[in-house]
Amino acid sequence: MDELKKRIGIFDSGIGGFSILHEIMAKGPAVEIDYISDDAYAPYGEKTDSQIIQRSRLITEILLERGCSLIVVACNSATAAAIAALRNDHRDVPFVGVEPYINVLNHRAQFPGITKAAVITTELTGSSEKFNLLKQKIDPLNRIEHVSMPNLASIVERILENGLDSSSKASLHDELSPLNDMRLSHLILGCTHYPLISSLIEDELKLVTVSPGKHVADRVLDLISTPAGVGCDSFSYLSTKSTRWEQKTEDYLSALLKYSNSYSEEA
Ligand code: DGL
Repeated sequence: MDELKKRIGIFDSGIGGFSILHEIMAKGPAVEIDYISDDAYAPYGEKTDSQIIQRSRLITEILLERGCSLIVVACNSATAAAIAALRNDHRDVPFVGVEPYINVLNHRAQFPGITKAAVITTELTGSSEKFNLLKQKIDPLNRIEHVSMPNLASIVERILENGLDSSSKASLHDELSPLNDMRLSHLILGCTHYPLISSLIEDELKLVTVSPGKHVADRVLDLISTPAGVGCDSFSYLSTKSTRWEQKTEDYLSALLKYSNSYSEEA
């Protein structure tokens, strides 16, 4: 390991944070990356705030012990439930969270053809104070519809683990069906799992998806003030179902992104 390189930690309930990790790696920062996938406790979207705070604290401790100097909470649900507690616990550590980009109607020029938008989230994010305050502040007239998706993160995990078979296609179709008659032009993805299948969502609903990944990556790069474009083509990975860290390459990540259009907009 290059001792001069900064180390950053990233976590999510599962593979969703890869949609953020991919945007960070694409910028090629000179960093070491540790990624923790909390598979033993997924999905987060159906847990309580205090359960997510407990898990996020535990994972943060592991990442800090490994020498990470910045933590990316690459999960909308954990950002909503736990980032304030993490910032309070570790006042000298920068934490970067993820929130859905609700501001689309106020930035129409960035979204050609936009007429009507909705935001989809996990149940935990959708009922959180953080999300609802953000929504009220940015969208006081309630022009953006909100729909919680109880099973979508798990469906994404299944598609990427077992492939897109007829049963996962049917589950995806059913889960997205509340959005069918809403005549949406744009859909804001409020869970980091969803951009991993953005092209499938776009094909199913015939609309454009919006994700904040590039913006989150920009924020990380600003904070670590390390040169971009020098290369970062592998990362360390730990699933909480295992006790062993593994080294994963960019190729592993690209294979997981095959149903993603990597479309993202600045938040
Ligand atoms: N990827 C996460 C999010 O952004 C959590 C999904 C889940 O585990 O329910 O909300």
